[in-house]
Amino acid sequence: MLSLIHSLCPTVLAAVTLLGVANAQGQAPLLPLSNDSSISFELLVSLGEAIYGGADIAPILGVALDITPGNFSGFSNTFRILADATKAAAQDPTNAYDLINVRDTWFSASDYYRRADFYLHSNWSDPLIYTYWQEQTAAFDNGIAALPVPGKRIQISADNFTIEAIWFATSLEDTKKPTLILGTGYDNAQEDLYHTLVVPALARGYNCLTYEGPGQPSVVRGQHLGFIPEWERVVTPIVDYLLTDLAPQVDASRLALLGYSFGGYLAARAAAFEPRLSAVLLDGGVWDFYSGIIKQIPANLQDLYTSGNKSAFDAAVLGILNDDTAPSTARWGLAQGLWSFQLTSPYDFINATKAYALKDVASQIQMPVWIANSEYDGYFPGQAQVVAAAIGENAVVHNFTGVAGNHCQIGANQELSRTVFAWLHQTLNN
Ligand SMILES: *[C@@H]1O[C@H](CO)[C@@H](O)[C@H](O)[C@H]1NC(C)=O
Ligand SMILES: *[C@@H]1O[C@H](CO)[C@@H](O)[C@H](O)[C@H]1NC(C)=O
Ligand SMILES: *[C@@H]1O[C@H](CO)[C@@H](O)[C@H](O)[C@H]1NC(C)=O
Ligand SMILES: *[C@@H]1O[C@H](CO)[C@@H](O)[C@H](O)[C@H]1NC(C)=O
Ligand SMILES: *[C@@H]1O[C@H](CO)[C@@H](O)[C@H](O)[C@H]1NC(C)=O
Ligand SMILES: *[C@@H]1O[C@H](CO)[C@@H](O)[C@H](O)[C@H]1NC(C)=O
Ligand SMILES: *[C@@H]1O[C@H](CO)[C@@H](O)[C@H](O)[C@H]1NC(C)=O
Repeated sequence: MLSLIHSLCPTVLAAVTLLGVANAQGQAPLLPLSNDSSISFELLVSLGEAIYGGADIAPILGVALDITPGNFSGFSNTFRILADATKAAAQDPTNAYDLINVRDTWFSASDYYRRADFYLHSNWSDPLIYTYWQEQTAAFDNGIAALPVPGKRIQISADNFTIEAIWFATSLEDTKKPTLILGTGYDNAQEDLYHTLVVPALARGYNCLTYEGPGQPSVVRGQHLGFIPEWERVVTPIVDYLLTDLAPQVDASRLALLGYSFGGYLAARAAAFEPRLSAVLLDGGVWDFYSGIIKQIPANLQDLYTSGNKSAFDAAVLGILNDDTAPSTARWGLAQGLWSFQLTSPYDFINATKAYALKDVASQIQMPVWIANSEYDGYFPGQAQVVAAAIGENAVVHNFTGVAGNHCQIGANQELSRTVFAWLHQTLNN
């Protein structure tokens, strides 16, 4: 079994490039922040958020210097130390004399606590999964309370769960504005989306509602619910809420939905059932979650999976989760899959991904759809075009290439936002 496990490491690495952080075709052409491509990517997530007030730059480069490849607990500790120091700066009354200091400092502290949590999900009993999340949430709440138009946490009841959302209005007045609903994917938090697309959206006059549903950070922690494929169960209650409770502020003829990362599947699925949306943005296109994963798995593991030998497959995969020498992408991606689907069996997790496919619903999508196709995104290569073809003339594909070609344009949030808002400007006529 040991030799099987070892022989599976590169296999699983290939599988997890789809789910996680690296990519099949190599990284976009830019200076890596670590020899560990998973860690390098994650550092670039934080660095990328710096341009929209989510982090400072030198502290992230300082973390990059201190952490060693594969050392997840070291990564977590190093960010926790930075987060604690930033929190102390936020609490210092000398700094807290104005709202700009308050929000800048708390937003960075929040970001650093999110990073401290990122690699911890292989052990669901680790209390730090909860304590770091409480810290990131409290810090973020201090930040949004200090905005000129304070952000507001909202809970929206769905059929048998509660959606955790944050409402960011452009103005304190009741004037109807174009409104963006933004949802993340397999791992990131709605707080990350604030520093990715909400800040530039507000600056351009869009209200924003970010949300998390089953499988996503606050709902997994608070309600212990993993992903569900029927994502209209999440988005339709949100649209109901916007068009009733927030109706005085929402221009119902300019209501767009954006799905980020694996959220590219989730948003497309929801859009097929939600004609009240005026436009949909998918960064990127996810046609079929399962086929994307399985075709990356070399024959020996594929055979083990398709043979239906669940116990052998599970033992092989679980064996690497706490193995520091296993590739980081594999360890993180599989642990995150089990955590976000709330499953203990890797076999069940891989099988569960079969339900996340657009083939039966894509033709029902009736509004304009923008789909990102990223040159160095190895998760679902080629799937953006398949999604676009199935939707038909309503769909447009945008190619991101070169240094902006990473999954979700990580580190290139300016190019992402100018592209997204140029399309929305044309499509919504505003
Ligand atoms: C990164 O990898 C290169 C090539 O294997 C090696 O020379 C270098 O020392 C490594 N750097 C770090 C910081 O581990
Ligand atoms: C991981 O990083 C921590 C620092 O937080 C350090 O104490 C530990 O020795 C490192 N482990 C390895 C195997 O390098
Ligand atoms: C998981 O975390 C708990 C609580 O910290 C700890 O007691 C347990 O040993 C950990 N399990 C593993 C496999 O590291
Ligand atoms: C929630 O609804 C889903 C689908 O209708 C069902 O499978 C699940 O068992 C329900 N859960 C609870 C706790 O009622
Ligand atoms: C599953 O794999 C295990 C380990 O290789 C083996 O002992 C067992 O016989 C297999 N079960 C079946 C039903 O093939
Ligand atoms: C595999 O997933 C499919 C689709 O979600 C489901 O219908 C089926 O029951 C699952 N099979 C097993 C063995 O878990
Ligand atoms: C976008 O990239 C795809 C390959 O990923 C290519 O087939 C297509 O022609 C490109 N489109 C444009 C407009 O460059």
